[in-house]
Amino acid sequence: MADELERPEETSETHEHDDPGAHLPPPTIWPFAFAAAVALILVGLIVSMWAAVIGIVLAVVFGFLWIRDVSHDVRAAPEPVPVVAPEPSPLTVEPGEPSEPERFPRSKFLEGATLGLGAVIGGIVTVPALGFAVAPAFVGQEEPDVDLGPMDSFPQDEWRITTFTGDPEKGDVTRQTAFIRYNGLKDDVPSYTIISNRCVHLGCPTQPQGPPGEPQEVETSAAPVTLTPTQPSGFGCPCHGGAYDIEGNRTAGPPVRALDRYEYSIINGSLWLGQRYSVGVVEGQGADAVAVRYPATDPGVHVDGIEQVLYPITP
Ligand code: FES
Repeated sequence: MADELERPEETSETHEHDDPGAHLPPPTIWPFAFAAAVALILVGLIVSMWAAVIGIVLAVVFGFLWIRDVSHDVRAAPEPVPVVAPEPSPLTVEPGEPSEPERFPRSKFLEGATLGLGAVIGGIVTVPALGFAVAPAFVGQEEPDVDLGPMDSFPQDEWRITTFTGDPEKGDVTRQTAFIRYNGLKDDVPSYTIISNRCVHLGCPTQPQGPPGEPQEVETSAAPVTLTPTQPSGFGCPCHGGAYDIEGNRTAGPPVRALDRYEYSIINGSLWLGQRYSVGVVEGQGADAVAVRYPATDPGVHVDGIEQVLYPITP
C-alpha cells in the first residue's frame, strides 16, 4: 500500500515520450524508387527520349509519395505531452523538478537537415556535369545548308554522286556524299531525290550499284562540289553486304531501315541541301515517293515498328 502511494501513475503518453524512437518514420522504399527513376531519366537521355519521359513521370510520382510519407510522419507525430509532475507530497519518493518538454523531435530535425544538405550537394555536383554531358547533344547540331550548284547540273532522271563540303568553315573534314536525282516537276515544283550515302547499319559509305562516269567539278557560292554521273540499279554497302533499292529501301543484309534523306530548296536557280532526316520505308518512286519523316537518327537504330521499342540502343 505504501509503494502504490509513492509511485506516480504511468500513462501511455508517458511511455511514448520516453521512447526516443517512437516517432521515427518507418522504413520506406520511395527514396530508392525515386533514385531508380532518376537513373532511368539519365539512361533515357542517352538511349531513348521515351525512357526519359517515363523516368520523369516515375520520379514525380515517387517523389510525391516520398514527400507525402515524410510529411505524414511529421503530422502523425503526436504533440509532446508535458510531463505532469505529481503533486508534491511528503510521500513522493522522486520529488525533483518537472523537465522541460521536448517541442520538436531532434531526430526529425537531423533527418530533414541531412536530406536537405544531401539534395543541395547532389544538385551542385550533378547539374553542371549533366549539363556539360547532355547539352551538346541538343545544341548546335544543325549543319548549315549547302549550295550544290545550278539546277541544270542535275539532268532529269539521272543520278549524280555528289560530294560536297558540309561546313566550309571546318573544311575537308566535313566532306560528305549524297546520291541526287532530279525527278522533273511535280505540281510545277522541281522534285529531287537526295539520299545519304551513309549506311544505316554501322555508317560505312555505300556505293551505287552501277559504273560511275567522269567526275565534274562545279563552282558554287561556297566550296566546289564534285558531281559524278551514274545510273545505278540500287546501292550497296561493302562492309557487311547491306543492300538498298533505288529509293534507298533496305533489300538485304543487316541495315535496319531505309537510307536517310535530305531536305532541299531552290534559291536563285541553285539546288541547296538542307538537313538530313531518317525514314523507315519509302513507298513509291521518284517524285511520287512517300515516306514518314523522322528526326535524323544514328545508324543501327530503328525508327518505326515494334523494333524501335525492342531495340532502342544504338550499337
Ligand atoms: S555498315 Fe553497311 S552493312 Fe554494315
